[in-house]
Amino acid sequence: MKIAVIGSGYVGLVTGACFADLGVDVVCVDSNTDKVQRLQRGEIPIYEPGLNTMVEQAVANERLQFTTDIAQAVAGRSIVFIAVGTPSSEDGSADLGHVLQAAQAIGQTIDGFTVVVDKSTVPVGTADRVHAVIARQLQERGVQHAFVVASNPEFLKEGAAIDDFMRPDRVVLGLPPGELGLKARALLDDLYAPLTRNHQRTLYMDVRSAELTKYAANAMLATRISFMNELANLADVVGADIESVRQGIGSDRRIGYDFLYAGLGYGGSCLPKDIRALRDTGRQYGVRLGVIDAVEEANAHQKKVLLQKITTRLGEDLTGCHFALWGLAFKPNTDDMRDAPSRYVVRELLRRGATVCGYDPAAMAEAHHAFVHDLADQPDWLARLRLTESADAALAGADALVILTEWKAFRTPHFGKLRAALRQPLVFDGRNLYPPHRMQAEGFEYHAIGRCGPA
Ligand code: UDX
Repeated sequence: MKIAVIGSGYVGLVTGACFADLGVDVVCVDSNTDKVQRLQRGEIPIYEPGLNTMVEQAVANERLQFTTDIAQAVAGRSIVFIAVGTPSSEDGSADLGHVLQAAQAIGQTIDGFTVVVDKSTVPVGTADRVHAVIARQLQERGVQHAFVVASNPEFLKEGAAIDDFMRPDRVVLGLPPGELGLKARALLDDLYAPLTRNHQRTLYMDVRSAELTKYAANAMLATRISFMNELANLADVVGADIESVRQGIGSDRRIGYDFLYAGLGYGGSCLPKDIRALRDTGRQYGVRLGVIDAVEEANAHQKKVLLQKITTRLGEDLTGCHFALWGLAFKPNTDDMRDAPSRYVVRELLRRGATVCGYDPAAMAEAHHAFVHDLADQPDWLARLRLTESADAALAGADALVILTEWKAFRTPHFGKLRAALRQPLVFDGRNLYPPHRMQAEGFEYHAIGRCGPA
């Protein structure tokens, strides 16, 4: 089987590498020449556990190639994935520029029956637009190749993407009705057979339902998080413990335990963008999506909660205060800084006159990039930010430790050393890493999210 994957970002690269690992002949395309050259040398532009080795092996076995040439990649391949970015536009809608460009290039190139698969997260109705673009190109070329546009959304979590790909909860295939849809289904079934052979995990549906399924999944996850964040804020005021509440409700099988962790609000490249795009779809069709609106508003508020705890304790003017920050990436096991809560917290601490020393186990380069970008308008603030080589180095002489990402390495610190390194035993934990009673016993003043009563 031979496939092409257009877009070698996070989703495209993981998809291409995993299929190659399963024995498929894969060519990944990207318009960025520098990136393609680096990938050809085996340099992976993102931090994703296991991906390096997988790409290296697949390239060595000649099952995975990288190119900037879409025409060369698509020619002779019966399945072409579109896995390009769909960033938020100014108005919150998904920017489909890259998707439609890919469709155009596909239409200019295909030379036989082709299944074009939307892997990118795209608003309902995009497959129809992709279909129209390809059909127009074929018409202009004066050729009549049959093709199908299918929807096959990804459900990969950064940091666990390979496992999610290789052991999917489900494979969603949205296909058009009729003969061509069945032909496409047979090809995609073959492609996914190694992942679905032992358990039937494929869910077949119409294309629009598949497109909406992706948004529904991310919106449900975001809703659970915002719901728990609001209850955590309430728990802080009424003197309850959100972790006990989580266990209390998670034990109900209808609810379950996952994705109920209160914290700094959801971030990353998907949840915020997809919620905005779903809201935009509601607006476009004139359908009220009140729950989804509230989820985003709650998340915007949640970003501020830890900072409010800091200023309530230390004052609005933080001049002369020195903070150690543990964790900068939006979540553990990734170096992704997109919509990372650390970007808000760092800016606000610096704005109030503080000095900040930050550390992250994987995201130092990305963090440097992000902060230089964010603070380009405020060089004086940037001068008060330092990134250190280790968690210990960040602590030296700090007035307080602020925890922003729940990396495993931060879960069991030596509390004695931690206390000794800080000028005062003060911890603000946006990820609820430690039991409050333990922190109290260790002599810390511990502020977490929904765990300790008001600051
Ligand atoms: C998400 C979806 O999980 C995945 O299925 C989809 O394909 C892409 O978007 P990802 O962005 O990698 O994946 O991160 P995820 O693990 O979902 O976390 C998203 C955000 O929610 C993070 O900021 C995380 O810190 C936060 N989160 C997650 C919570 O605050 N509480 C939780 O209980 C879980």
